[in-house]
Amino acid sequence: MANIVIVGTQWGDEGKGKIVDLLAENADAVVRFQGGNNAGHTMVVDGEQFISHLIPSGILQKKICIIGNGLVVDPKVLIEEINYLKQKDITVTPKNFIISDRAQVIMPYHKLIDTGRENLKADKKIGTTGRGIGPCYEDKAARTGIRFVEFTNETGFAEKLKAVLAEKNFYIEKFLKLTPPVFEEIFAEYSEYAKILAPYIADASAAINKLIKNGGQILLEGAQGIHLDIDHGTYPYVTSSNTVAGSACAGAGIGPKYIDEVIGIVKTYTTRVGAGPFPTELFDKTGDFIQKKGAEFGATTGRRRRCGWLDLVVLNNAVKLNGLTGLAITKLDVLGELKSLMICTGYKYKNGIIKDFPADGKVLEKCQPVYEEMPGWNEDIALIDKYDNLPQNTKNYLKRIEELSEIPIYIISVGPQRDRTIVLNNPFLNISGIKTPSFT
Ligand code: IMP
Repeated sequence: MANIVIVGTQWGDEGKGKIVDLLAENADAVVRFQGGNNAGHTMVVDGEQFISHLIPSGILQKKICIIGNGLVVDPKVLIEEINYLKQKDITVTPKNFIISDRAQVIMPYHKLIDTGRENLKADKKIGTTGRGIGPCYEDKAARTGIRFVEFTNETGFAEKLKAVLAEKNFYIEKFLKLTPPVFEEIFAEYSEYAKILAPYIADASAAINKLIKNGGQILLEGAQGIHLDIDHGTYPYVTSSNTVAGSACAGAGIGPKYIDEVIGIVKTYTTRVGAGPFPTELFDKTGDFIQKKGAEFGATTGRRRRCGWLDLVVLNNAVKLNGLTGLAITKLDVLGELKSLMICTGYKYKNGIIKDFPADGKVLEKCQPVYEEMPGWNEDIALIDKYDNLPQNTKNYLKRIEELSEIPIYIISVGPQRDRTIVLNNPFLNISGIKTPSFT
């Protein structure tokens, strides 16, 4: 039995969806533990593209999928996603999909506040996805949030909504100068959503613990990336949840003793959407090439992603913060045509070299990357399915990542499709899970 946490090591969009989809084959359940529909996964299965924002991609593998208590969930988006998957003949029922009764509900005022605030900020925008994520987490911390357990209880929902709306509308009207939402309208619309989602609401922690007790293998899927973590990321240009592996326990409701492996997803170059410092960002033709070849547009907002070289200061920070046990390297094929590749091994700041990721954004902005140059392989590797058949320069590049991070590479992805993957070590295959997973 093994339970694995998957995290993005950079600023999100590392290609977690494909790796989760791949590993899910040998898992019994896939659990999301933080974030909301600010995340977006694009997966390609049998030539068909699937995009999901909330439901773990394990649903495509017919696995039990769970939205943990650590999430903020937009019910409207979730219903759309369930319907979208059903239209594609993918089974989504309360038997294979549950939403934690303790997860928070994103309400219309959260979205209004998110976008309204950003619009007021002029040049200081965070570049949020505008999905209401931050304001919903704020309410969770302020203890004024609405959880699914209250949401699906009509009286409880009406009481909470009335109380919270009075305060929100004061802020929306007086400070943001926007039209405040009306209680009756929200209540009527959202009560319908609550009715549709009610059958899926359950005690997710109990379900996950039961699966573990029965010998099930759990895949815990992080969203965004480590450098968007509210504590450890490039604050304030971060998301509003803890994206580090440690958050998997709090956001799923399980104890740390059940985590066996932590796999960090590393895109072979770096990207970032939204604002914030990014030391290895490229503003030249190479950056444009990577952006186009890698199709670096956000799955959630469609925004063009900023692109740059692989940054080992960033990766080593993720190694430290998550206790990574293995790496999954993604999009290696994108670098195929480049003559030489740069790996950032440190930052030049004032008269010294920094190896530890700085807390101060002002320092990070002034950091100059120190690069190690490696020859490219100038070859299309998208169809190579064995490590031994990779060009020597590709192997050297991968070996260098292992040396600098001191973490073994488990998986190498050379294309968006499932079969464009070289698996060197799948921790789930060392042990087999339960035959008929059940959380009931
Ligand atoms: P929020 O999570 O919508 O509040 O946005 C905060 C920051 O996190 C912004 O810079 C977003 O672009 C970024 N962000 C949020 N979710 C993702 C993601 O899934 N991938 C990449 N960036 C993200």
